Amino acid sequence: MKVLVTGGCGFIASHVVDAYVDQGHEVVIVDNLSTGKMENKNNKANLYKVDICGERVAEVFAGEKPDIVNHHAAQISVPLSVEQPLFDAETNIKGTIRLLELSREYGVKKFLFSSTGGAIYGEAERVPTDEDYPPVPASPYAISKFACEKYIQYYHKQFGLKYTILRYSNVFGPRQIPHGEAGVVAIFAEKLLKGEHPTLNHFPDEKRGMIRDYCFVKDIARASILATESQKVGIFNIGTGKGTHTLDLYKETINALRSNGKIIPQSFDEPRRDAARAGDIRVSTLDPTRAKRDLGWEAQYDLAKGLLETIQWYAGHVA
Ligand SMILES: NC(=O)c1ccc[n+]([C@@H]2O[C@H](COP(=O)([O-])OP(=O)(O)OC[C@H]3O[C@@H](n4cnc5c(N)ncnc54)[C@H](O)[C@@H]3O)[C@@H](O)[C@H]2O)c1
Repeated sequence: MKVLVTGGCGFIASHVVDAYVDQGHEVVIVDNLSTGKMENKNNKANLYKVDICGERVAEVFAGEKPDIVNHHAAQISVPLSVEQPLFDAETNIKGTIRLLELSREYGVKKFLFSSTGGAIYGEAERVPTDEDYPPVPASPYAISKFACEKYIQYYHKQFGLKYTILRYSNVFGPRQIPHGEAGVVAIFAEKLLKGEHPTLNHFPDEKRGMIRDYCFVKDIARASILATESQKVGIFNIGTGKGTHTLDLYKETINALRSNGKIIPQSFDEPRRDAARAGDIRVSTLDPTRAKRDLGWEAQYDLAKGLLETIQWYAGHVA
């Protein structure tokens, strides 16, 4: 099948592209390279350096006529969405509507969308949180992602466009940039490799930091493959269901670096500390039961195994 992947030179979608290519699919990437990098691009994929909000994306659909659209391009920074909600909405909401319009016009068979379980549920009372829990998006970024979900469901109901919405937990792995939605692994790894002492943000009553559901990017990419092959339409959490305190993540990162032969000073065994930031959620973990039942997806990497692969990559990329 021919798959059009937006954001395919970015962190997550470059792994999605690799997985599609490995499965023998033909892949076309649309990416404006605002945060994406040429070095992430799979050699077998065809890149259009085009903005999803611009006119030229229509030419890509007209020329390529993709079977599947897998939409990952987005403004991904929560703080930036707070500072510039209009820019966030332009990219995330208008860009998605544009792709939905073109998918309808060119008879796309399925539309896959990368949403966020990490941000959309807010401070949920039920954790791990399942897909039926009513979202309380607490930032312009989370609101824009939730709005996209609603537009996608509208296009399904109104025009029969099939879809899969994947609500990711905190994704980590090779190629991650530190300033995205969930960049803490990238931040710790880069700082430690540069000999800098990382800071842990936490609430006063929880010194171990926030609890998050860390999912390795190759597991995330596999969810796209399974969703593409499946006839199921719907919303699926993609996460491990397990919670990890930021302090434990920090210590695991140091362990992974040391077992990679990196020398990390003993004085770094405890991180520096600072207050939680505005809008920080205390606990976020996702219940992946539905993805296992309907897509046959479940995480194959645990945190330690994923971190080892991640650290090997950063060790080769951070000067
Ligand atoms: N990182 C996470 O933990 C996480 C969690 C949940 C959801 N997501 C979602 O996954 C997707 C990918 O996130 P990522 O972490 O890989 O981010 P990323 O910044 O690495 O990737 C985004 C890609 O989209 C491209 N892009 C941005 N705006 C564009 C535009 N207007 N036109 C064309 N291309 C554009 C960028 O150049 C980049 O290659 C996003 O939709 C994000 O909201 C990420």
